[in-house]
Order: sequence, then structure tokens, then C-alpha cells
Amino acid sequence: MLAVLLIAGGVGVMSQSNAADSQSSSPNSPAPDTMQARVAACAACHGAQGQGTDNDYFPRLAGKPADYLFNQLQNFREGRRRYPPMNYLVTYLSDDYLHQIATYFSQMRPPYPTPAAATLPDSQMARGRDIVLKGDTSKNVPACIACHGNGLTGMQPAIPGLVGLHRDYISAQLGAWRSGTRHALAPDCMHAIATRLDDADIGAVAAWLSTQPAPQNPVPAPAGSMKTPLACGSEPQ
Ligand code: HEC
Ligand code: HEC
Repeated sequence: MLAVLLIAGGVGVMSQSNAADSQSSSPNSPAPDTMQARVAACAACHGAQGQGTDNDYFPRLAGKPADYLFNQLQNFREGRRRYPPMNYLVTYLSDDYLHQIATYFSQMRPPYPTPAAATLPDSQMARGRDIVLKGDTSKNVPACIACHGNGLTGMQPAIPGLVGLHRDYISAQLGAWRSGTRHALAPDCMHAIATRLDDADIGAVAAWLSTQPAPQNPVPAPAGSMKTPLACGSEPQ
């Protein structure tokens, strides 16, 4: 990638007959700072358009609300989420830079992966579906769709879609909230919800969600279109 950019830059210099013009793109100047060059480092794990990869722990980024993605990049930078390669990559990046990266991936619309096949017995898949669509009043767990939307595409400006994510990624995130290794801005509604779920609930929810196809128009619901049943610090009301 870098080599391609350097070569492209060199061609530019050669085609410029005016010596004064060539000053800004002399062969010694760094590669152009394009968005494509910035996100090249992300492609190996998240795909060129943020569509995700076959690795069960590497999440899709494409189409998630920009403020959600920005919050996560800040969370990694400030240690509220831990995954060493991510923490390392964003350590020295400014808010402005993170905003631009977040906006870039929020606007990508690559196709969604084929939904996973059911991996648990019917009764457990049904349990997962019930929690997502209706919640569990006996455990004080609201329906996931109350905030993540009927189409599971999230809500602007900062609630992510849950379609297109792998089962293992979803269960790992819920487990991280429960054990306190993932935090969101306070009040952390996902921490409250995850601690009310037991291992079997998390397994059921993650398995069912991963079987769901994306809706026809997989864009996040407009800001304020749902009243969230709990306050979430990352989603201003
Ligand atoms: C070595 C693989 C790897 C690379 C390279 C990488 N990521 Fe990640 N990224 C991950 C993994 C794994 C996670 C989930 C970590 C966790 O469990 O919390 C993640 C999570 C994220 C999230 C949060 C997603 C969500 O839905 O919550 C964002 C945003 C993100 N990465 C952006 C980037 C950007 C931007 C780059 C390039 C500058 C990048 N990543 C490079 C592996 C990688
Ligand atoms: C009260 C609103 C609300 C409810 C109800 C809710 N969520 Fe969330 N969820 C959020 C918010 C806000 C975030 C983003 C948190 C952050 O900034 O890290 C989120 C993030 C997530 C993520 C992280 C996605 C990613 O890409 O890393 C998962 C997984 C998730 N929720 C699953 C669930 C499940 C499963 C349920 C139902 C049991 C549920 N949520 C119910 C508000 C909610």
C-alpha cells in the first residue's frame, strides 16, 4: 500500500513541468496522508471496508453510527476497552483524527455476511430470541431491540447495530462488560444489562443474534426515535 502511494507520488512529480509546483511533492516528502492510507492498517483485521473478516473475534465496523465508533476508539485509547493491538494503534491519535476514521467507516456499506446457522438446541435459540425481542422481566432485563432497534441496526448517534457480528464476538463483549474489562461512558447501561444475564443467557442471545439477517435498509434508526429504557452515558437523550 505504502509502496503504491510512493510510486503514485513519484509519477506526479515527473509529470509536473513547473519546478515550483514540484516542491510540495518532492520525492523526499512523506506519502500522502489520505484516508485510504490511514485505514490500511485496519484492513487486515476489519476488512478494507470495515465489513469484518472470518475471524470470530474481529468485529464489523461498517455502517455503525460514527459517534459509536468514535467512542470505542477513545475507549481503546483511554483503557476503557482492552485489546493490545487496538490500544497500541490509537495511543497517539488525536480526537480529530479518530473522528475522521469513525466517520469513514460509518459511511461504508459493504454487504453483510451470510447469517450463521443455529448452533444451539431449539429451546436455547428460542430463549435467545425472547431476550432480544421481549427482554426478561423476572431479571429486570429490557428487550435488546428497545435500544438496538427492531432491525438490530442500532440508533444514531451512538448505539451500534448488532447484525453482522459473530457469535463469539458478541458473547465476549457481554462477558467483558460483566467482568469489568469493557466500560462505556457512565452510566454504563450495558454493564447493568450484562450483569443481569447468566452464562446460558449470554450464549443464547449471542447464538440467536448471529443467525439474524440484515434488514433491507440496514441504516441506524434516527436519533431520538426510541426512548431507551435505561440511561446510557454514550447515547444522549
Ligand atoms: C490485529 C487486528 C486489528 C487491527 C490491526 C485493528 N483492529 Fe480494531 N479491533 C480488533 C479487535 C479484535 C477488536 C475487538 C476487541 C475487543 O474484544 O474489544 C477491535 C475493535 C475495534 C473497534 C470497536 C468495534 C465495535 O463494534 O465496538 C473499532 C472502532 C476498531 N476496532 C477500529 C479499528 C481501526 C480504525 C483500526 C485501524 C487504525 C483497527 N481497528 C485495527 C482488531 C484489530
Ligand atoms: C438501554 C439501552 C440498551 C439496551 C436495552 C441494550 N443495549 Fe446493548 N448497547 C447499548 C449502548 C448505548 C451500547 C454502546 C456502548 C458503548 O458505547 O460501548 C451498546 C452496545 C452493545 C454491544 C457492543 C456491540 C459491539 O459492536 O461491540 C453489544 C454486543 C450489545 N450492546 C448487546 C446487547 C444485548 C444482547 C442486549 C439485550 C440483552 C442489549 N445490548 C440491550 C444500549 C443498550
